[in-house]
Amino acid sequence: MSQPLILGIETSCDETGVALVRGHDLLFDAVASSMDEHARFGGIIPEVASRAHLEAMIPTIRRALTEANVDLTDVDAVAVTAGPGLVGPLTIGASAAKALAVAINKPLYGVNHVVGHAAVDQLVHGAFPERFMALVVSGGHSSLLMVEDIATSVRELGSTLDDAAGEAFDKVGRLLDLPYPGGPHIDRLAREGNPHAIRFPRALTGGRDKEKHLYDFSFSGLKTSVARWVEARHDAGEDIPLNDVAASFADAVADVLTAKTIAACQRHDIDTLVIGGGFSANSQLRDMAAQRCAQAGITLRIPPIRYCTDNGAMIASLGASLVAANVAPSTLDFPVDSSMPLMITHV
Ligand code: KG4
Ligand code: ZN
Repeated sequence: MSQPLILGIETSCDETGVALVRGHDLLFDAVASSMDEHARFGGIIPEVASRAHLEAMIPTIRRALTEANVDLTDVDAVAVTAGPGLVGPLTIGASAAKALAVAINKPLYGVNHVVGHAAVDQLVHGAFPERFMALVVSGGHSSLLMVEDIATSVRELGSTLDDAAGEAFDKVGRLLDLPYPGGPHIDRLAREGNPHAIRFPRALTGGRDKEKHLYDFSFSGLKTSVARWVEARHDAGEDIPLNDVAASFADAVADVLTAKTIAACQRHDIDTLVIGGGFSANSQLRDMAAQRCAQAGITLRIPPIRYCTDNGAMIASLGASLVAANVAPSTLDFPVDSSMPLMITHV
């Protein structure tokens, strides 16, 4: 018998994602983004995102069903992001999912977005091993998760105390006068620069800070150091070596992310690492993770970038795992939770 067909809906930020998944097979993944509407503001405007989700929701659901060549009545369960994310956008997705579940009289699962960033990798690289580590890095999150069962057992080992990795890149991008979002621009400049030109700080990697925050990250001090360094050069009337600043900054971020993650794998005797979230597009992180994982004998799994940015497939994939694990569905009145804890895989 074929596995249940899961419809996944994602609306936690600026992407309206709808996908259909059967087991570990992705049938189709439709995404509409409102990023163009936010770019001129230099950041995501929740109200603008909510309105865009409302407009895109039904056309995106229709497109996913048509392209997957299935009928709404074929769907066996609906999964939707319950949090974390922006309340307005989350509410639009949850309302749509609730209405659909009622209309087709099928179970509904409100799921965790960050856990979804890890879950999507099953669609690309197949079933997960018994235990693995997941590093989820994006404009909104930098979290290290220890996963024993993607449906039922996720432990948050650490996360960022301030800016997420992508957010730090975007802020440094702004101070270097790069277009928003600055992340990909810094990546590009960094590839031409010397990562050892400037020694920027690695927060929470030594002394008592490290003891207290073994697997936590902090990038706001790093961002401030970059700002000070650039300012001092500027005041002295000197040119800013953009490539070297970008490369040294990107190196500091990649160094801390990979060092802490690999230390966690070794300490917990885990030999598989999944990296997800939009920031996993970052070349410096990818290169350093590949090199350090190879040295440590850790299998590295990073999905192609279109599955790392926000999408419906990640939510459908987590939904499929919940159904396969016989987890009870969510009640129809579940609330969205902008700061949903990461060990809660579903509500
Ligand atoms: O997952 P995502 O699409 O949206 C969020 O949920 O945040 O991640 C987008 C973030 C942005 O901060 C963007 O600047 C950053 O990821 N980003 C990058 C790169 N590509 C995207 N940062 C550095 N290097 C990149 N190549
Ligand atoms: Zn995300």
